[in-house]
Amino acid sequence: MTGQKKVPFVTFLTRVRDDSVPGPNPYRWEERTSDDYFAGKRVLLFSLPGAFTPTCSTYQLPNFEDLYEEFKKEGIDAIYCLSVNDAFVMNAWGKSLGLQKVELIPDGSGEFTRKMGMLVAKDNLGFGMRSWRYAALVNNGVVEQWFEEEGFSDNCETDPYGVSSPQNVLQTLRAAA
Ligand code: BEZ
Repeated sequence: MTGQKKVPFVTFLTRVRDDSVPGPNPYRWEERTSDDYFAGKRVLLFSLPGAFTPTCSTYQLPNFEDLYEEFKKEGIDAIYCLSVNDAFVMNAWGKSLGLQKVELIPDGSGEFTRKMGMLVAKDNLGFGMRSWRYAALVNNGVVEQWFEEEGFSDNCETDPYGVSSPQNVLQTLRAAA
């Protein structure tokens, strides 16, 4: 990626806990925009093909969570994990991993991912349209560094993982410091 790219402005539909909601499922919808996530902050965004998938659940997301404090030392204000999954799925995924630090962004419609140019078909896996795996350092909404897995394509037979791993991103940030 070259030049100054801004993250697209979209509205995400999240589900947040609200104990004033009666019944056994005390959650309500809350709209959060790109500005809520990115304005005035230096953040790390990573995006992956799907909640609960093996590499994402075993390595990428838990490793970003484990290395969170190391990223903070590099001046990162927040780490976001985005996937083309709805808020119910993303919340269930975060709960299953005991996530405390990395924030999950549900891009259920794929609008953000499409506008980032990262939407790919994964019909070969029965997934429909999903995100290619990438990470980005985003400063006040502007992409400053870009970490995209090789081989961007529809119905890719492999799942490249390395460039956007937390270890590689952290090493790159440290080298640039
Ligand atoms: C994985 O994270 O391992 C994975 C991602 C997409 C499809 C299949 C597996």
